[in-house]
Formats: sequence, structure tokens, C-alpha cells
Amino acid sequence: MTADGTTDPEILRERALDALTTARARTALLTSCVEEPELTAQHSPLMSPLVWDLAHIGNQEELWLLRTVAGREAMRPEIDGIYDAFEHPRAARPSLPLLPPAEARQYAAEVRGRALDVLESTAFHGTRLTEAGFAFGMIAQHEQQHDETMLITHQLRKGGAALTAPDPEPVLFTGPSEVLVPGGPFMMGTSTEPWSLDNERPAHRRLVPPFHIDTTPVTNGAYQAFIEDGGYDDERWWAPEGWDHIKAHGIAAPLFWRRDGGQWLRRRFGVTEVVPPDEPVLHVSWYEADAYARWAGRRLPTEAEWEKAARHDPATDRSTRYPWGDADPAPEHANLGQRHLRPAPAGSYPAGASPLGVRQLIGDVWEWTSSDFLPYPGFTAFPYKEYSEVFFGPEYKVLRGGSFAVDQVACRGTFRNWDYPIRRQIFSGFRTARDASPEIAELA
Ligand code: AVJ
Ligand code: FE
Repeated sequence: MTADGTTDPEILRERALDALTTARARTALLTSCVEEPELTAQHSPLMSPLVWDLAHIGNQEELWLLRTVAGREAMRPEIDGIYDAFEHPRAARPSLPLLPPAEARQYAAEVRGRALDVLESTAFHGTRLTEAGFAFGMIAQHEQQHDETMLITHQLRKGGAALTAPDPEPVLFTGPSEVLVPGGPFMMGTSTEPWSLDNERPAHRRLVPPFHIDTTPVTNGAYQAFIEDGGYDDERWWAPEGWDHIKAHGIAAPLFWRRDGGQWLRRRFGVTEVVPPDEPVLHVSWYEADAYARWAGRRLPTEAEWEKAARHDPATDRSTRYPWGDADPAPEHANLGQRHLRPAPAGSYPAGASPLGVRQLIGDVWEWTSSDFLPYPGFTAFPYKEYSEVFFGPEYKVLRGGSFAVDQVACRGTFRNWDYPIRRQIFSGFRTARDASPEIAELA
């Protein structure tokens, strides 16, 4: 259940309404802050035109809440194919007969009006899809995931700033650089979180040997030291495919970085600025994270290590929903929800730390793990194979913890994201880990 474990359908209904409304406000902002031609343009072959995301959001909501939950007829069956992510790769979407911006907005709004009627009249039990309002929570998460995708499109867009937000507060962090996570089993994944998605399920015991993990994400300053030390020209640090990739594409710094005399500049949502040394590094690929870790004499954490660091409380031997416990995220816990358009300085959010003192596991930057995206033992696809199952396998790496661009409805200690190891337009960073020494391993 949610933090208070409520099963009260009226409270859950209120939460579903709130999650859907929050998502739509963000979607509206992301699609109203630029002129119409910018909505239909393709800003990068890696991304859809913003107007595709907008109508796709409405189309998924229609499919699940109107047609599947409420058994309604298709409103516009002729557009389904256009907004099916599996029929057309992103690069091909601008040439589809997309609904123009006003029509896309109108369609999404009409679907929403009807979905809110369905929300009023649906019992929150009886079927797995409606239990605790799951379908409504799933659709709010889907919209928020596309809101993050649209923010990536905004970051890739050329031209001046369209979006602004206040900066996070500066912080003075003086804690240790790493903590020891004792070895032993912990409960990974969830069987009880009502709006968890299929790949987070079921809860299962995992044995994790003792390891050390960074207290904060790796910073721009630390990453610059890797660059200055010739890290991009030293094959020793790189996975072979990563080395081939950076050499073939002339990659020698995080995406959006540019050297200017003695300093590094970066472009962030239409503004060029000096790279802030204390901020978690952003826009690095899995290959870059992996190479940095090797250069530092360390490694990426496995997905199980990451989740144990984020959820396991050694004092109670319980796995909590978040590093700070079971309470829903509040602004003092984590940088989420596009409240800021950048990560907060490393060491921020002491109230969001884990029991062992690990900070910023939730929010700020998605963290690459060393693990492939694989199903947990006992996984079953729900409600559709195309959410997770078709992506399982060694070609995708898992990212954890969410970024400043993710809303809390789509972020928790068990939430799993995945992408290709070459990807870096996403809001990705990382932290590093190392095995505990044999002496410590014996004690732990
Ligand atoms: C979970 C972020 C990898 O964007 O491809 C959106 C989320 N799935 N629509 C993606 C998703 C269907 C997905 N990720
Ligand atoms: Fe989608």
C-alpha cells in the first residue's frame, strides 16, 4: 500500500485523481512553452516530435482506462497505429500523419474528461487491473515518463531557453566518501506496492556480499579529473564495445559539454554555463560510467547492491519503500518532479539519506548499474508484454533511483529503468562501488 497502507477506496481515488492531474499540468507546460512549429519539428532523431508524445499520452489513456477498464469503443481507431510505439521508430514519427497540436491537445483532453468519469464509477477491487486503482496509477506513471522524455527533447532542442526553474540550495557536505553495506540477504523488489509495475515484482530474497558504495553520485569535478588524466584516450579503462563506440563517434566528454580555454562549459535547456564541479555528472553513457569507475579503481554497483543500499535497513532487517523509510517523497527528501531543472549538489538532502548515510539515491540523476535488464524470479508480464518483457536481455542496462525530471509517482526504491549502454541524452549519472576486503567480508 501507500505510506499509510490505506485500502480506503476514496483515499486511493483521490490519489489517482491527484496523480493524473499533476501529470497533465506538467504535460501542458512542456507542450505550451514553445511555438507550434517546435511541437511538430524533430529536434533529434533520437526523439519523437513533442506533439507525438502528447497524442500518444492520450491514446494510451484511452486504450487502458476507456477501452480496457470501462469497455468503451475506440474514439478514433484510425489513429491507433500512428501512436503505437512499436509500429514506428522515433526517427520515422515526424513523417506520420500526426494530429496537429490543437487536435492532439483536444483529443488528450477529451480522453481525460471521460477517464475522470470512469475513475468516479470504477470499484477499486475485483480485477487486478483496477485493484487499488492500479490502471489509473499506471497511466499517471506513463504520462510522467513521457514528460521526462519530453524534457529530454527540450534539452536536445537548439535555441534559447523555453523552460526555467529555481536552482537547488547549495550544500556543505563533509561526510565520508563511501559507506560499508554489510553482507547478507535482503528483500529485493515488491509484492505489495500497489502501483508498482510488473518488472518490480515479485519481492524475493537476494544474497548480497558486503560492499562499499559512494555516499553521493560522482560529481562533475571528479569526472573532469578522469578527462584531464586522459581517460578517454586510455583503452585500459574501457569495455571493448565502449572503446569502439567513443572512437567511432569522437566522444571525449559528457554530452552537451564543450571545452573553452581552461574550463568546461555545458549547454542546459538553452543556456550555456560553466560546468559546476559539485553537481552530479549528467549525460554520460553506461560505457563512460563503467570506464570512469575502472579508472578510479572501482566498479559500478550491481542492481541488487544499489537496491540494498537504497532500501535495506540493517537495524530492522526490513526493506523500506525509500532510503528514508516508507513516507512518500517530500521536497526535503529528494530532487524530483522537474521542480529544479538540474541535479542538486552532491551531498544534498540529508533528510533523504539511507540508514547508512547514502545520499541522493532517489532523484537528481538516474544511476547506471552494472546489471542487464532481466526479470525477477517469478516475473509475469502485466498488463502488457510491451512494457517490460520484450526488453529483457543483455542489450539493456538498468538505471535506478530517478532523476530531477521524474515525478514521484514514477519513482521509488524498487523502480527499474533501462536503456542501451551508449545512451546519454537521458538524465543519467552514476555512483561507484567496490568489494569489501576479505577481512571485512569475514566480519560482516
Ligand atoms: C521505462 C523509460 C524505458 O520511455 O521507453 C513509455 C517508459 N514505456 N511508454 C520508455 C515507457 C512506454 C520506457 N522506459
Ligand atoms: Fe509510451
